[in-house]
Amino acid sequence: MSFFSEPLLAVETSCDETSAAVLVGRSVLSNVVASQIDLHRKWGGVVPEAAARAHVEAILPVIEEALGLASLGLADIRGIAVTNRPGLVGALSVGVTAAKALSFSLGVPLIGVHHLEGHLCSVLVLSDGPGARDDAVARSSVPLPEGLFPHTALVVSGGHTELVQVRGLGDYEIVGITRDDAAGEAFDKGARLLGLGYPGGFAIQEAAKGGDPKRYALPRGLSGDTMDFSFSGLKTAVLRLVEKEGAAISVKDAAASLQEAIVSVLVDRSMRAAEALGSRALSLVGGVAANLELRGRLGAACERSGIAFLAPPLSLCTDNAAMIGLAGSFRLALGERDGFDLDVFPNADLPGVTPSS
Ligand code: KG4
Ligand code: ZN
Repeated sequence: MSFFSEPLLAVETSCDETSAAVLVGRSVLSNVVASQIDLHRKWGGVVPEAAARAHVEAILPVIEEALGLASLGLADIRGIAVTNRPGLVGALSVGVTAAKALSFSLGVPLIGVHHLEGHLCSVLVLSDGPGARDDAVARSSVPLPEGLFPHTALVVSGGHTELVQVRGLGDYEIVGITRDDAAGEAFDKGARLLGLGYPGGFAIQEAAKGGDPKRYALPRGLSGDTMDFSFSGLKTAVLRLVEKEGAAISVKDAAASLQEAIVSVLVDRSMRAAEALGSRALSLVGGVAANLELRGRLGAACERSGIAFLAPPLSLCTDNAAMIGLAGSFRLALGERDGFDLDVFPNADLPGVTPSS
């Protein structure tokens, strides 16, 4: 499997981060993320129209900053990757329109990327930051680590919670999925009920420090021999807890108990899947992969089972364009190209998914 070996510009605007990155092969020369958190905080969640407008304002400065940090100009760019699915249609359109305009004016190939394939590819990053530039070209042909495929990936974000068997790049099988809320949503809704604000995952992680994870009993969702998830009962249980305890509630202990409920289920299902499928490696990707408790616990469980554990650097867990560049890079290297009719889709299956055997 090879990667696009010339400078690639990647763009991501599927939700509430405007991001642009420059890559050469698997080396990230720059990765700029303009977050809209402050804009959406007052509503406690993402407002689609406001997100699209904010992307319009941020997209060109963010691209310019990414080029500047990579010490490159537009004329140096040889390919463009952009998230075109799934996501908020208005938000996606901003990135896709900018990418098409640049592809047309520079005369370089364009590739649309599935957001989750971007998350799955975030573990492939070779080097990160400005220092990456010096050896990026030399290292652009460094092979992927031995034994990387097949591996089991836990994709945990604000919109998705899935276990994916990655047989190779572009060759996937969904082996487990949430039947209701995503893990990130469970963090966000729980945080809101506990008065910890938005976005909730990081707030819960911080509030849980020093808290007692056994203080409050919270449900674990589905029981039995399944690789699926269910988090909606958790939200109701936190609501009941808040109503019952009133002012006497320990937010610290409640945050620790909520984090424990989510993390223990994620670790349990991931290990069950990796072991059932005989995987030698397990990857943890998506915004919730930034959770330090989850990283630590899943890493330790993998170590006990003799399974290699892969997680992207924290900067590549929540939405970013570098991961979109990594996915676009292998697809461009395969010779795939999109035309100027590239469309945006609010929902879309991961490409290359084959049914369970
Ligand atoms: O991947 P992402 O940036 O956006 C989507 O594609 O959805 O994921 C965002 C999610 C949010 O639900 C946020 O609360 C969660 O990732 N998140 C965390 C942490 N940082 C972000 N959840 C738990 N612990 C964290 N440290
Ligand atoms: Zn995401």
